[in-house]
Amino acid sequence: MDTGSPKLEKPEGAARDWTVPQNWDAFSEEEHSVWDLLFERQSEQLPGRAAEEFLQGLDVLQLSRPGIPHFRELSNRLGEETGWSVVAVPGLVPDEVFFEHLANRRFPAGNFIRRRDQLDYLQEPDVFHDVFGHVPMLADPVFADYMQAYGEGGLRSMEFGAIHKLARLYWYTVEFGLIRQPGGLRIYGAGIVSSHGESVFSLDSDSPNRIGFDLERVMRTEYRIDDYQQTYIVIDSFEELLETTQNTDFAPLYSRLETKSDLPVTTILPEDDVITRGTQSYAAAQAAA
Ligand code: PHE
Ligand code: FE
Repeated sequence: MDTGSPKLEKPEGAARDWTVPQNWDAFSEEEHSVWDLLFERQSEQLPGRAAEEFLQGLDVLQLSRPGIPHFRELSNRLGEETGWSVVAVPGLVPDEVFFEHLANRRFPAGNFIRRRDQLDYLQEPDVFHDVFGHVPMLADPVFADYMQAYGEGGLRSMEFGAIHKLARLYWYTVEFGLIRQPGGLRIYGAGIVSSHGESVFSLDSDSPNRIGFDLERVMRTEYRIDDYQQTYIVIDSFEELLETTQNTDFAPLYSRLETKSDLPVTTILPEDDVITRGTQSYAAAQAAA
């Protein structure tokens, strides 16, 4: 989602829904090998850290095959699991276009890959973040339904001028979510699983807060886009996430939120289900540097 960024211009050659041909043959050897390098680093790190559903998605989609995935083949496999497909877009797309794709079970993926000297940081989501980070979870039937419901909810939020509040739900679940599983806390957020540093930091560091999921609380909470998160939100199950979001009418929630203040990233409320109270030492050190 592009919430907060300046107005985007549709590039020439993109369709009305902003999709472009993937043009897989145009990727160079170098670009495929950057994918392989990123894939290897992350797949080594994720067993025991990523949610079961994520690891299983990697497996059924055969994402371990070398090179940037071919979207048609990937969509065929993904389609068999959950009816989702992956479409190529030049980069960030406007919110409405993004929601419309999700509501129709299409995931828009950036059609470029970072350079070798940018392995750990880039501003716009590339094909590694979008495909490695997001697509495995779309092979899970419950998460697949959640993402579609989110797209529908996104379109609806526009009628209430509430995209900004709803975007926080996406941020703290789809991008940076943690889940409690039988073996302990696990990662499912795409921004974490696709990040070499944050996939360790989010679980192992004593710096960030980790707080149990509460819908209204999440939609009040600010987030940072420039460094590791200072607070992670933890769900108990994907079923619960789907059910609470789907069965809640967000209209009254949006009006209630109008009357409540936003919460800075490090706030802990008395009613919070605090799993870890962070020291925030990492953020303090970064701020001092
Ligand atoms: N139930 C939400 C609404 O009434 C839609 C939604 C579902 C939003 C799932 C986000 C996630 O708007
Ligand atoms: Fe993302």
